[in-house]
Amino acid sequence: MSLAAIDQRLKVTHVPRGRPETTLAEAVRRGLSHTPRTLPSMLFYDQAGSELFDSITELPEYTLTRSERSILLRHADEMVAAIPDLAEIVEFGSGSGEKTRIVLDAALATGPVRYVPIDVSGQHLEASMRGLLVDRPTLSAHALVAEYFDGLRALPKPIGPRAFMFMGSNIGNLTTDEATEFLKLVRREIGEHDRLFVGVDLVKDLALMRAAYNDSSGVTAKFNKNLLARLNRELGASFDLDAFDHLADWFPESSRIEMRLVSRTHQMVTLGNLGPFVFQEDEWIRTEVCHKYTPTSIKELGSTAGFKMVQTWTDDPGWFMVAAFGAEIGR
Ligand code: AVI
Repeated sequence: MSLAAIDQRLKVTHVPRGRPETTLAEAVRRGLSHTPRTLPSMLFYDQAGSELFDSITELPEYTLTRSERSILLRHADEMVAAIPDLAEIVEFGSGSGEKTRIVLDAALATGPVRYVPIDVSGQHLEASMRGLLVDRPTLSAHALVAEYFDGLRALPKPIGPRAFMFMGSNIGNLTTDEATEFLKLVRREIGEHDRLFVGVDLVKDLALMRAAYNDSSGVTAKFNKNLLARLNRELGASFDLDAFDHLADWFPESSRIEMRLVSRTHQMVTLGNLGPFVFQEDEWIRTEVCHKYTPTSIKELGSTAGFKMVQTWTDDPGWFMVAAFGAEIGR
């Protein structure tokens, strides 16, 4: 298929950042001045970080991606059948779009589809879209290079019934308040026959949950530290990557793994014209929260945002769940 034929079916929109605080320098300044120090996990996904994340999904310890794929392979037809005349698939945080192929192909078997992926990694997104459009002549794509919240505000006008997908346990990387706020915004978009599919990693054996974020080959540690490397590259920061340790542990009271970078020593870091920031020995930066849900807690989260959980599918060991939500009538 010619490149021109693909270009005709691909539109890429770079959505301007809506909230002033989400410029890189400002987000970093705020996060590092916060107690505890935090850095937004979406900063992981520059080109290098997106590639590292793709490697994570193939690690033996990281079960999430394989579990979700097994659910989609088995149930994508049912998911698609739940939305008569499905015309459009909107996906938040599409990454490589690899698992989405399964749902897209199930949908394309019923008719033409427009795919609207929203992701912060522009280069990665465009490359994966081109891969998807080859050999799928009835697929078109309008990719939004944006954070979820900005992407949601910039959605193209719907062309028919829609499936919204928030897969890969991406919702787990939002705090409960953020997830509720986000789902409420999605709820405003959802028509009576639309569905929101959410993939969540379930609470499971502690050792399994810890191992997924402490892999023996050190890829997750590299992914975590790439955030500092990115700040060195893009903000001229002076982080010494060897002076921070990767830490990922389970916090039962919040039902989440937290990823942190722990300062090995008392040190000072400069960030261009921001800072300097002084780190005490053992002082840490929280870089990510990874919430794990139960079938009940995800149902409750959806309900708080005006959704009704209408169907669920789990993998064989019961480690991962895809939940289908519809608009709760009257809300
Ligand atoms: C993208 N997200 C669902 C991953 C997760 O498991 O929370 C990000 C990740 N962080 C470390 N490993 C993977």
